[in-house]
Amino acid sequence: MRERIKWAANEQAAARREVSSQAAAASLSLLTTEQVARVSTFHASIPEYEPTPLVRLDGLAAQLGLKSLYVKDESYRFGLNAFKVLGGSYAVARHIAERLGRDIAELPYAELVSPATRAAVGQITFYSATDGNHGRGVAWAANRLGQKSVICMPVGSSQIRLENIRSEGATATITDMNYDEAVLYVKELAENDPNGVVVQDTDWPGYTQIPGWIMQGYATLAAEADMQLHADGVSCPTHVFVQAGVGAFAGAVQGYFANAYGEDCPITTVVEAAAYDCLFRSVLAGELVAASGEWDTIMAGLACGEGCGVSWEVLHEKARFFTSAPDWVSARGMRMLAAPPAGDAPVKSGESGAVGVGLVATLMLEDEYHKLREAMGLGADSVVLCVSTEGDTDPQRYRDIVWDGYCPSGNWD
Ligand SMILES: Cc1ncc(COP(=O)(O)O)c(C=O)c1O
Repeated sequence: MRERIKWAANEQAAARREVSSQAAAASLSLLTTEQVARVSTFHASIPEYEPTPLVRLDGLAAQLGLKSLYVKDESYRFGLNAFKVLGGSYAVARHIAERLGRDIAELPYAELVSPATRAAVGQITFYSATDGNHGRGVAWAANRLGQKSVICMPVGSSQIRLENIRSEGATATITDMNYDEAVLYVKELAENDPNGVVVQDTDWPGYTQIPGWIMQGYATLAAEADMQLHADGVSCPTHVFVQAGVGAFAGAVQGYFANAYGEDCPITTVVEAAAYDCLFRSVLAGELVAASGEWDTIMAGLACGEGCGVSWEVLHEKARFFTSAPDWVSARGMRMLAAPPAGDAPVKSGESGAVGVGLVATLMLEDEYHKLREAMGLGADSVVLCVSTEGDTDPQRYRDIVWDGYCPSGNWD
């Protein structure tokens, strides 16, 4: 039997109009339109910067019974095939700006990467644990600054993702630990290195500033999508689907839209890999809890058992639905995006990238999920935004799924 999608409505978010906790207000204040505009200005100063495409899939929307479906294609982000570099690059830049006692808004990228800046800040080694995409972004940013990076990957990580990090000049290894253990390991390495700085996309007591900057970095993507939607005549999407590992990305997108649209904020659904659904469990528990274990998932980027607290505050207050999606949901999304109906442009979307589209399609196509579809109010008037957060970051695995049918999503078994 095919594993089912699980879901929970966040009643608290539905009931609350005001932000009720100080912690949530603090997290949301990182993601105001003014703050995000500053971050976007930083990203725009990077010479290779271009907004990634927002693809409108009219054929697929019609087949699914939606008004429209937009997919933000992050495979184009800085040539790195995933959105994650937005966070790592901004956090590293902010760290350097702080060391120099400068405001990031007044530190042009050309100066940031100059030998003079390198000489002023001295040698730094940036440490991070990663499934691949975040580490590649940190390594890329460190390399640009003439700095070092040490990247540790969880057991079972893909060799090609490791090679891609090494090719950015990092010292990178695949460890025998899971993601959460690898985070503790890099923390220890950095503590024992007088020049070490952890650039992690999750937080712990006493370590919230850098994760906050990383979230701010991701928000550039939400601001771009918002602008692109406006340019296409959409004032605001009705529904946004955001996939989550630690949840920093989901929190960034939710925070941006909550600040920008207030009461008219789109209905946001968090989508996790069923094997690592810590946020889904957290919303049921009413507090942030871990999903410990070493389960297998094709969604390597979402394989995190512990959520990011800074982001959780935003999601718990504002996100309306939390879902736990088995691998077939993502595999379905990948295949649909690779071969959409005539007239739609294909999107090359990897395992962690396609789960939002796979979920939307399943909710619309399968009556088994009508309750969730109705609870969300998804239908003919819905304007849906999904983010394909990565392309084929593991090309062999991508082909196994899209060409050879690995991880079947059909309902016939
Ligand atoms: C491609 C991709 N999508 C989504 C995510 C989830 O981001 P977060 O861990 O901030 O929830 C990741 C995390 O590594 C990722 O690599």
